[in-house]
Amino acid sequence: MTGKTIVLGIGGGIACYKIADLASKITQNGADVHAVLTHSATKFIAPLTFQALTHNPALSSLWSEENNLESGKSAGMPHIALADGADLILIAPATADLLARLAGGLGDDLLTTLVLATRAPVAIAPAMNPTMLAHPATQKNLETLRALGYRIIEPDEGRMACEHIGSGRLPETAELLAHIEAILFPNLDLAGKTVVITAGPTRESLDPVRYLTNRSSGKMGYALAEVAARRGAKVTLVSGPTNVQTPQKVEKIGVETALQMLEATQNAFQSADIMIAAAAPADFRARCIEPQKIKRGACKTAEISLIANPDIVAQCAANKRAGQIVVGFAAETQNLMKEARKKLNSKNLDAIVANDVTQAGAGFDVETNRVTWITAQTAQEWPLATKTEVAARIWDEILKF
Ligand code: C5P
Repeated sequence: MTGKTIVLGIGGGIACYKIADLASKITQNGADVHAVLTHSATKFIAPLTFQALTHNPALSSLWSEENNLESGKSAGMPHIALADGADLILIAPATADLLARLAGGLGDDLLTTLVLATRAPVAIAPAMNPTMLAHPATQKNLETLRALGYRIIEPDEGRMACEHIGSGRLPETAELLAHIEAILFPNLDLAGKTVVITAGPTRESLDPVRYLTNRSSGKMGYALAEVAARRGAKVTLVSGPTNVQTPQKVEKIGVETALQMLEATQNAFQSADIMIAAAAPADFRARCIEPQKIKRGACKTAEISLIANPDIVAQCAANKRAGQIVVGFAAETQNLMKEARKKLNSKNLDAIVANDVTQAGAGFDVETNRVTWITAQTAQEWPLATKTEVAARIWDEILKF
């Protein structure tokens, strides 16, 4: 990181003690690191800690005389000097209050003023009590910040200092370091590629209030889209209903049924170089959707008549042009390799990502995945990793075709 100037914006949350470790590591890595603490942060950790670790003055005020600098070290207008010189501003931990001030465009302290005055990329790692994070006001602020182009580093789940369990933990130093590296040294090896990714479940209506669906969360497909966009690809994400945030620079087409997913995917596939089918479209839909809510009646049993949905990835792959690459997923509960190879061949895929969804840490609605990458020539078992790491590896492999 030699030659790079990084501003660490530190908010007043208990997780700010972790940033001392990060400050030390990036300084040792050669970066010129400047810590800027909010007033509340100084209650948790002394600016002197950062001063000692970064060998630069740690600032906490817009007003030079309040920064306790040695004489001769006054930066005059620190927010302008730092804003102009920074290659990256990383704000961690970002408290609910700090998020609100940033989303509102306030410049009521050194850190928020700095963010307004910079052209450098700004990454924000929220960390707080899970209820505060889930509060609609906080979520709205995060949405605003995403729309403004700030990069939000998603908080981890786990036990909090306040003894609550949930989402809101500051990610570990290694993960923050990975984000810093990805921003400072972007890998644009997918630049010029157009990709279409399917994600999430579909919903197949039975009547006006009921539908058939499955446990797919969409997380794997969204991770693939996020990584591809970050690496320079033009990404269309055709997604069934999910709760996952649409990654930056991704065009999302929201659909509900498998038939809608088929239409949107086929359209996008025409101009795509690569398709990855990470969705779990329903294999069947109701033969006819009842126009009125189905009544319980006197019967003790009920039957739903189903018909097969089209196989989206197979239909796209059947018509692929020379040079187009199609990758599918196979979520299995038994005979993983045999079933996956069968799908690789029958669906005319270039590769299939197989996972045994009965294994711990793999499959639906978890942050991690353990998969086997299968092509006509190879089968590689990859270790348990986050879905983002698995996504990065899938793109690495696709680029080898
Ligand atoms: O459901 P199945 O195990 O066959 O899914 C394997 C692959 O086929 C996945 O990539 C999935 O996205 C895709 N698929 C599809 N359309 C369907 C069913 C599955 O594209 N109707």
